[in-house]
Amino acid sequence: MTPAGSLLAAHDLRKTYGSTPALDGASFSVHPGEVVAVMGPSGSGKSTLLHCLAGIITPDSGTITYDGRKLSAMSDAERSALRRSDFGFVFQFGQLVPELTCVENVALPLRLNGTRRKDAERTARTWMERLEVEDIASKRPGEVSGGQGQRVAVARALAGSPKVIFADEPTGALDSLNGERVMQLLTEAARSANVAVVLVTHEARVAAYSDRDVTVRDGRARDLEHAA
Ligand SMILES: Nc1ncnc2c1ncn2[C@@H]1O[C@H](COP(=O)(O)OP(=O)(O)OP(=O)(O)O)[C@@H](O)[C@H]1O
Ligand SMILES: [Mg+2]
Repeated sequence: MTPAGSLLAAHDLRKTYGSTPALDGASFSVHPGEVVAVMGPSGSGKSTLLHCLAGIITPDSGTITYDGRKLSAMSDAERSALRRSDFGFVFQFGQLVPELTCVENVALPLRLNGTRRKDAERTARTWMERLEVEDIASKRPGEVSGGQGQRVAVARALAGSPKVIFADEPTGALDSLNGERVMQLLTEAARSANVAVVLVTHEARVAAYSDRDVTVRDGRARDLEHAA
């Protein structure tokens, strides 16, 4: 059921909103350091799958295993702690805290994990250099471009040394040049730190940065690893 060597695996997930089946028997897996693109038409269940894998929403049935542990066997507090310690998130827009500077935003996951401010901001600056946004460290998110803001968001997702980054349309609000640069920096940084990436996108040029594609149609994920 769980493909050998996978870090995060889902088997036969089902999730219904009212009478709308968002997931209808979806299976998925990702290995350490692997970048997997989740593709499919609008409304097919991509974001629902990502939110289930990240433990943000609970499926009606099916199992999700992370690092040998079933998410359903954990308490809400344990799942929240896991999200803080092991997962990073990048969304389409709006995920940065507007009142904080960019470097404070990047340092936030470390601060929440109890790292001292000075150490957190030092680590944050290292990631901002990697993502080529160190020059805007003192600016607030409202004062930077869309592409810069997404690179800050990627730096923040990486700063907490996650094992998995969940990215839902991370370049959806960017033009193609900025989108390509964000994808290039995200995948380079993730691969060099052995971070797995679950990347939701409907753009083939974004999916081109992945190691493997999974297509979701009508709530069912077609994953070659699960093909019988
Ligand atoms: N919170 C919700 N309440 C009710 N229905 C929902 C909710 N979230 C998703 N759905 C429905 O579940 C189905 C799958 O939605 P989901 O957001 O996972 O699709 P998606 O593939 O991410 O689409 P998009 O590419 O447009 O982001 C859709 O029919 C959607 O309308
Ligand atoms: Mg979506």
